[in-house]
Amino acid sequence: MSQSCRVVVLISGSGSNLQAIIDGCDDNLNANVVGVISNKPDAYGLIRAHHSEIDTSCVIAYKNETRSEYDARLLAAVEKYQPDLVVLAGFMRILTDDFVSRFLGKMINIHPSLLPKYTGLHTHQRAIDAGDNEHGASVHFVIPELDSGPVILQAKVPVYAGEDAAELAERVHEQEHAIYPLVVKWFSLGRLTMSDGKAYLDGELIGPSGYAPD
Ligand code: GAR
Repeated sequence: MSQSCRVVVLISGSGSNLQAIIDGCDDNLNANVVGVISNKPDAYGLIRAHHSEIDTSCVIAYKNETRSEYDARLLAAVEKYQPDLVVLAGFMRILTDDFVSRFLGKMINIHPSLLPKYTGLHTHQRAIDAGDNEHGASVHFVIPELDSGPVILQAKVPVYAGEDAAELAERVHEQEHAIYPLVVKWFSLGRLTMSDGKAYLDGELIGPSGYAPD
């Protein structure tokens, strides 16, 4: 991508991944967060964006609004920024197929599990309950099926005996902040693509557990 990659970030909460991406963009002249959109007016990520002088919008769901009606308003808010890349960073709404299709190959998500394990919620507790000895986070392209798009990059952490979900979540979160800006950078440099439901880095197919250097 020769011009700076216009990134729009969708959030619902603290926005610590947003912060990691903003910080990463400061070191990477190829990408710029041009807008942050939240579905929650009290999301702390909106304050983070404000501190970095990034434009913000809030698209709050109306009572009785259908998912399609909401997503039509969300689409208008996103398109206003003319993004090259849409980044879901803790955006806790399920998106309609129409919305996802509009940004196929241009929208990524971070999920707190080693996908395909534990799509949906409560991933840390589920990993502990299953007795897993490793857990982690995955960055993936977004496709209509929830948390099921091709994985781009994963980070793993060990699960320690006796630790609770909050402790595990904190260690996973730290890893998220390392991998998400890196994936944004790859995309902004034109190195990352999705084709036929598969992810490619520098034209090489990325395996099911994400990029793994030889
Ligand atoms: C992150 O842990 C992210 O993986 C998760 O929400 C958190 C947002 O934290 N996303 C999902 O669960 C999506 N299915 P943040 O607001 O501090 O970036």
